[in-house]
Amino acid sequence: MTTELRVPGDKSISHRALLLAALAAGESRIRGILTGEDPQATASILRALGVRVPPLVADAELRITGVGVRGLRAPGRILDCANSGTTARLMLGVLAGQELEATLTGDESLRRRPMRRVTDPLSRMGARFEPLAAPGRLPLRIAGGPLHALDYRLPVASAQLKSALLLAGVTGGVPVRLLEPGFSRDHTERMLAAVGCALTSSPERDANRVRLTAAPAALDPLDVVVPGDFSSAAFPLALALLGGAGEGIVLRGIGLNPTRTGLLPVLQRMNARIEVEIGSAPEGGEPAGDLIVHASDLTGTHVERQEIPGLIDEVPVLAVLAARARGVTRITGAEELRVKESDRLGALAANLSNLGVEVEELPDGLVIEGAGRPLTGAVEARGDHRIAMAFGVLGALAGNAITVDAPAAVGVSYPGFWEMLERASRPAGRPSVGDSGEDDLESARPVRERGRGPVIVIDGPAGSGKSTTAREVARRLGFRHLDSGALYRALTCALLESGRPPESWPALTESDLNAHPVRMVAAGSAFRMMLGARALTTELRSPEVDAHVSAVARLPAVRGWLLDRQRQAGKEGSLVGDGRDLGTVVFPDAEAKIFLVADVTERARRRLRDKGRDPDSDGAVAAEAARLRARDRIDATRGIAPLKKAAEAFEVDGTRLSFEEQVEAILGVVRARVGDRDARVPTSRE
Ligand code: S3P
Repeated sequence: MTTELRVPGDKSISHRALLLAALAAGESRIRGILTGEDPQATASILRALGVRVPPLVADAELRITGVGVRGLRAPGRILDCANSGTTARLMLGVLAGQELEATLTGDESLRRRPMRRVTDPLSRMGARFEPLAAPGRLPLRIAGGPLHALDYRLPVASAQLKSALLLAGVTGGVPVRLLEPGFSRDHTERMLAAVGCALTSSPERDANRVRLTAAPAALDPLDVVVPGDFSSAAFPLALALLGGAGEGIVLRGIGLNPTRTGLLPVLQRMNARIEVEIGSAPEGGEPAGDLIVHASDLTGTHVERQEIPGLIDEVPVLAVLAARARGVTRITGAEELRVKESDRLGALAANLSNLGVEVEELPDGLVIEGAGRPLTGAVEARGDHRIAMAFGVLGALAGNAITVDAPAAVGVSYPGFWEMLERASRPAGRPSVGDSGEDDLESARPVRERGRGPVIVIDGPAGSGKSTTAREVARRLGFRHLDSGALYRALTCALLESGRPPESWPALTESDLNAHPVRMVAAGSAFRMMLGARALTTELRSPEVDAHVSAVARLPAVRGWLLDRQRQAGKEGSLVGDGRDLGTVVFPDAEAKIFLVADVTERARRRLRDKGRDPDSDGAVAAEAARLRARDRIDATRGIAPLKKAAEAFEVDGTRLSFEEQVEAILGVVRARVGDRDARVPTSRE
């Protein structure tokens, strides 16, 4: 039997559609947008800049009324790009031409990625930048304004850089002439032409010359259908080639822009059996079609520098295919992979080698010797969605036993990836646990009924690190992590977005709170907080939520609201929860209870470090410690979910323990209380 499937919308096109719709004059219509965490970050930043962007909902048409090319408003908060390099770099270009100041930041991975390649040429155009931590890295402040024309040779073939500069040309209303040493994806050029910009692209031997000659004062609104993301389709495609999907797979509605499909000719050389059926391309739009993929006997190949831009995001999946191909595959000219969401060359080499694959890491690539032997071991995905998915595919093949440590990372670009993998790799006729028969592969499923398994609770004061510790303990045990703080934060988001003034919140009843569509859905080893159909990600940590969450935690109606949700999570079993009263009130019958404490000065240091501030500044530590003491007093005496140590809880003092030692200490208590039978170590990806 052949499996048919669709994959979520193209990530690159989704970002660009959001940005250009925001800058256009009039109402744009976007169908098929990716609802993953990366475009969510772009949408949330546009909201902060004064654009009314409705929630991103899979399969629904999104309508955005633009504010005009220079109509963005100064944001009242720091703009958090989360894990998304495309958000950060394209947004810098968009902001360069606006008369406003803004601060951009991102998660730990994004804060390590180079931004100078964008800020250097944008500075030449007249924008000003101030790095707030390390030079050339986020967080950084940008002051936009009137810009000059730019004539520039890009140091790397990069669509993010090229797009940032073209977008600055649009918001600055100035010409931009670029020479790119290679051919990176051209979605921005296509979409800019569709909204009325005068643009030319001409190949010159190995370089690409792009000119934005004129940008109109008002951009036409967009009407786009976002095709399935080829980079996401590459994972089920690889599964099918490696014989992991029965007789094969048909992938429908996949974007086939030639600047994105550089993997296909490489696979052809490797002997892959893939049929490509290109549909009729819509006017000014992106080509799309179907891929029919059959199990194939792959052979090794060489992939060189000029091929890399066309398959830049596919190197992880290619490496996994190479590990199963006959002979040697050599990939060179790919040093750009070291500055992606992780150092992908390093991550691939280390993980392949741990699993028993012969691999050599080059400064700019990999040499992989394929083999058919069973592969076993634990993969460290370094929080990188594509590393997690590539090894997910390898792990789904018969005979391999591979666990992936960061399953939730896939939410950045491929919500529903693990469900797709399970479904596509399931032999015909074998029903899956919790299979609803529903065909929407993109939507996150509600928590499955898995029966009651052990519940482990970790209570403790603010700043004791209980949430990160609980997440790691859950990961090692293969249990799911319940983060009670995130529930309070999700409710805070809902209340803020409802527009009710905070002064009126204390009068809300439990049924008022229940009227807000806050839900938790299982996402790998965590619960994702949802508001309606929208996954809450960066919003949970916004300064507005920071400012209101403790007031929400004190609302009289919150107790019952929270308790219902926490207990519901407990019913799914195999849970590690963290909170303040989980052991005393929520799960009095928990199998193991831990009370995590630490000296207040140490907790203050950890908090500063989490916020990216100097943990060695005595003044900052003292001020943070004073705040924590005040917070401890409130937490211990409040009527709702007061901080309490359960009589039978095991106290772990983390003051002088490293994170690893703290996790080990807790695992020791769990093993003693629950036994090794139920507390498997290490984890599986469930
Ligand atoms: C992207 C461009 C690529 C790619 C990234 C998305 C884009 O980066 O790796 O996932 O949407 O422009 P570079 O072209 O900057 O290498």
